[in-house]
Amino acid sequence: MEVLVVYDSVSPSKVTMKVAQTIAEELKAKGVNADCLYCKDCDRERVKGYGVLIVGAPTMAFRPSKEIAEFLGALREEDVKGKMGAAFDTQIRSALSGNAAKGIEKRLSGLGVSIFKPHLVAYVQGKGKNTWELRDGELEKVRKWAQEAAEAILQG
Ligand SMILES: Cc1cc2nc3c(=O)[nH]c(=O)nc-3n(C[C@H](O)[C@H](O)[C@H](O)COP(=O)(O)O)c2cc1C
Repeated sequence: MEVLVVYDSVSPSKVTMKVAQTIAEELKAKGVNADCLYCKDCDRERVKGYGVLIVGAPTMAFRPSKEIAEFLGALREEDVKGKMGAAFDTQIRSALSGNAAKGIEKRLSGLGVSIFKPHLVAYVQGKGKNTWELRDGELEKVRKWAQEAAEAILQG
């Protein structure tokens, strides 16, 4: 089953892009065919060719970033119904962070996507003015999540 990882990434640090690419790399290492696309380089037609859709974004103002919300908003049930799907986000580790991944998951579910794995949260920390990095241990968490996702996908 072919997997499409679609992401948004807003800051110059491109942390969410790195998370998306790591997920795609781990899937491929486990023998799963995976492509990884920036959400503005992807549209409804492109999504139709995949059996699995994994969507991620930075959490901004407690919700998914604007571009990923637009990408998801343009999808129609007929494009994705019956596919397997999962969500991920990057966010600050705080009780007040909000959670983009939950919003993405909800939208995917509403479109008839079957959520095959609970969402992944990758925690970031600020390094300076709009400069971000993954916190210690988060990249390993991402890799583990992707390996488990690969196993679930291979099982169908
Ligand atoms: C305008 C703005 C709003 C943000 N709002 C939130 C937020 O509500 N919750 C949170 O956890 N992080 C928030 N952040 C931090 C982002 O989640 C962080 O910039 C992002 O994870 C970096 O990923 P990227 O490099 O892929 O853009 C915000 C950042 C900016 C610039």
